[in-house]
Amino acid sequence: MPAAINPPVVLVLGASGLLGRAVQHTLLESLPHGVVVAGTGHSRARGLIPCDVTDETTLREFLAAQAPRVVVNCVAERRPDVVEKEDAKAHVLNVRLVEILAEESARLGFYLLHISTDYVFDGTKPPYKPGDDPHPLNAYGEQKLASEKVLRGKDSGERACAILRVPVLYGPSADLAESSVTLLARDVLVPPRSSQKKVDDWAARYATHTEDVARVVTAMVDRALTGAGELRGTFHYSSKERSQDLSRGAGGEERSQDLSRGVGGEQCPGQGGGRAYTKYSISVLIGEVLGRATKHLEPEASPPEGAPRPQDCELDISALQEALGEKVTRSRALRDGLREVLQGILGETSDS
Ligand SMILES: NC(=O)c1ccc[n+]([C@@H]2O[C@H](COP(=O)([O-])OP(=O)(O)OC[C@H]3O[C@@H](n4cnc5c(N)ncnc54)[C@H](OP(=O)(O)O)[C@@H]3O)[C@@H](O)[C@H]2O)c1
Repeated sequence: MPAAINPPVVLVLGASGLLGRAVQHTLLESLPHGVVVAGTGHSRARGLIPCDVTDETTLREFLAAQAPRVVVNCVAERRPDVVEKEDAKAHVLNVRLVEILAEESARLGFYLLHISTDYVFDGTKPPYKPGDDPHPLNAYGEQKLASEKVLRGKDSGERACAILRVPVLYGPSADLAESSVTLLARDVLVPPRSSQKKVDDWAARYATHTEDVARVVTAMVDRALTGAGELRGTFHYSSKERSQDLSRGAGGEERSQDLSRGVGGEQCPGQGGGRAYTKYSISVLIGEVLGRATKHLEPEASPPEGAPRPQDCELDISALQEALGEKVTRSRALRDGLREVLQGILGETSDS
């Protein structure tokens, strides 16, 4: 009797997180039925496989038992202020884990897709292409760059792996605080008569929906599974939406004028004109989506406190667009994404 052929396994590490959740969901929806999609969680492992990646022996045994064809690594400590304070602890998640995954990828033969960040750049010369020189400004960026270097070692050309850098993310969640983008809604929702609140208007924010990233990840995984031109090396994916112009509405409130929409409300990738979004202009947009005044918010033109942040890390996504096509790499408009995500978290929005 011929030996049974095991179905290919795609393993999402960190499937309980903001991005991993969307990645696992999209993989399950999109990959053929014969493919097994498994996800791990740690403190939020309900419905997932519990796995503490800091336990090296157990992790290696787990990987060997799963025998995955593809591993998508969404585990990280991604809060820059926490990494600054708990450097060694964060290093285990952000760097040591990737060293183990690189070794196991070589030993077990799986394709590794590792998620990284635009914070590997210093934000002084945007837009950044994947080959541009990185220069992180904070410990989080340094650790993520160190993780990339593990995968781009001496034999990088030979490694079955890809690095996907993404900017600040938002997406379906149970809690505003899970993303620094949706967290902005908290200050929008305080009573307008309360004292003025300064909001960062210094750093460019290319807020990208996790389901858009998940669609890109799924396309990359699909190519690795089918052998249709497995992508290797470093890639960038980001929303390119910008051109928020603030003007006064009838009631004196600031209103954003979205100049980035093309015919049919579709985003025009790379369209020039206008400014990149900032936390402040995203807050004004959130105010519109929630039907709340934002007069109590004040733009702050100086860099924020805490771990140093780069000012503008706009990512050039043309290489990925060329590899996967415009349809796969298209991002939804920020207004639409925020409306849907805030509706899911708060149960109500007013703009339609
Ligand atoms: N969020 C952003 O704005 C952003 C921006 C740029 C790049 N990125 C990158 O995108 C990737 C995903 O980030 P994210 O925002 O989805 O992060 P996240 O929401 O904080 O999720 C982190 C994941 O890591 C898991 N994890 C933490 N400690 C673990 C441990 N000891 N053992 C096993 N798993 C552990 C968490 O599991 P539990 O929750 O179950 O404990 C969770 O699934 C990261 O590489 C990050 O650097 C994120």
